[in-house]
Amino acid sequence: MAHSSSQPRTIASRGPLNGTVAVPGDKSISHRSLMLSALAIGESRVDGLLEGEDVLATAAAMRAMGADIVREDSGTWRIHGVGVGGLLQPAGALDMGNSGTSTRLLMGLVASHPITATFVGDASLSARPMGRVIEPLAAMGASFSDTPGGRLPLMVRGIAPAVPIRYTLPVASAQVKSAILLAGLNTPGVTEVIEPIATRDHSERMLRGFGADLTVEDMPEGKRIAIRGQAELRPQAITVPGDPSSAAFWLVAGSVVPGSDITITNVGMNPTRTGIITALRMMGADITEIAPRTVGGEPVADLRVRHASLTAIEVPPELTPSMIDEYPVLFVAAAFATGTTVARGAHELRVKESDRIATMAAALNACGVTTREFEDGLAVDGSGGDPLPGGATIATRLDHRIAMSMTVAALHARAAITLDDAAPVGTSYPIFFATLDRLMGTDA
Ligand code: S3P
Repeated sequence: MAHSSSQPRTIASRGPLNGTVAVPGDKSISHRSLMLSALAIGESRVDGLLEGEDVLATAAAMRAMGADIVREDSGTWRIHGVGVGGLLQPAGALDMGNSGTSTRLLMGLVASHPITATFVGDASLSARPMGRVIEPLAAMGASFSDTPGGRLPLMVRGIAPAVPIRYTLPVASAQVKSAILLAGLNTPGVTEVIEPIATRDHSERMLRGFGADLTVEDMPEGKRIAIRGQAELRPQAITVPGDPSSAAFWLVAGSVVPGSDITITNVGMNPTRTGIITALRMMGADITEIAPRTVGGEPVADLRVRHASLTAIEVPPELTPSMIDEYPVLFVAAAFATGTTVARGAHELRVKESDRIATMAAALNACGVTTREFEDGLAVDGSGGDPLPGGATIATRLDHRIAMSMTVAALHARAAITLDDAAPVGTSYPIFFATLDRLMGTDA
């Protein structure tokens, strides 16, 4: 799925990675900071916003719906919101690029406003299922014209007032949960989401921080999250912690490349996001947490990772929601472990930016790694710490995490690995390769 502006890139191993890196702002939190600031009355300020393409798509969409969003030189963003219920009719289609989070969360916001918005995206996003948000938002009263199969391009016709619902999530998805809560923000009465399996809770934390009336309760059937609609949001000053999903590439690189010693500063440690650290530690990774603290209502720490011999594990399926974006790089860690790592219960990987089970199986196979594909996961035979044969060209399929994961694989391979297109890295980690050069000492 490489496209006309593809940027091929070849990565050769060059020995250990050493140094200190600060990962960019958390993608999930960055999206939500812009959306909620755009709904507050008054000026919010966001420091450490991820300036990747996905988040910039959210910024452009919120501007198109009336918010005043300005980037200052320092990388600080200032947002003047329109107030809950105040979103304006966008003049043109909202281009979501590659971003599923922007699309699904904004569909929720539009659903309870008296406006109509058309969502378009790239080939990857246009293949992803939107029925999972259409169903609950339609129950709230919004109407949809979608491409067959519940895909983009699609049009959302919002309604005000929308009708509150009580909805049990059929898939463990923070995006679906958040879309409903955001729709509930401008819906009179109490909108409830029941979450049988806990997913990332950034929306809940941040909605509360902005002053929304939101409660979370543990019930026998799962977490019950209730939002009382049509409250006013108060502007906030937000500091976005570093993205644990971006830190994951360095955690694996540091673990598998002999002689490495990397410190990653300011990493978000929200327990709904740290499954990769748990899994890597189960495999024998040497990861230490330094100076745990709280930043902007989220737990944060610095992490030090040193090379270690990894041993294969059966990945506990209950870790799936807290490491859903980290499976591609976990499969790379598995490729260097002793024994066969088996990950099951991760069917959702089939509907991410690419089919991450098939894409990673093909990529690892091309580099000389034996894998066995399941409908809901992958088994990966490890090299016992030896370098991979490598020497292949990888189809990254418009998927940033495939590009970065296979870059990590290339750091301990006998022959260089080429990405057919490294451009997708810009969606979540624009300075990934510059940081890699620094850690390898090749940036002089
Ligand atoms: C996200 C939720 C997850 C994750 C995505 C970001 C979010 O998606 O994969 O990268 O910010 O809510 P799902 O909700 O589809 O699992």
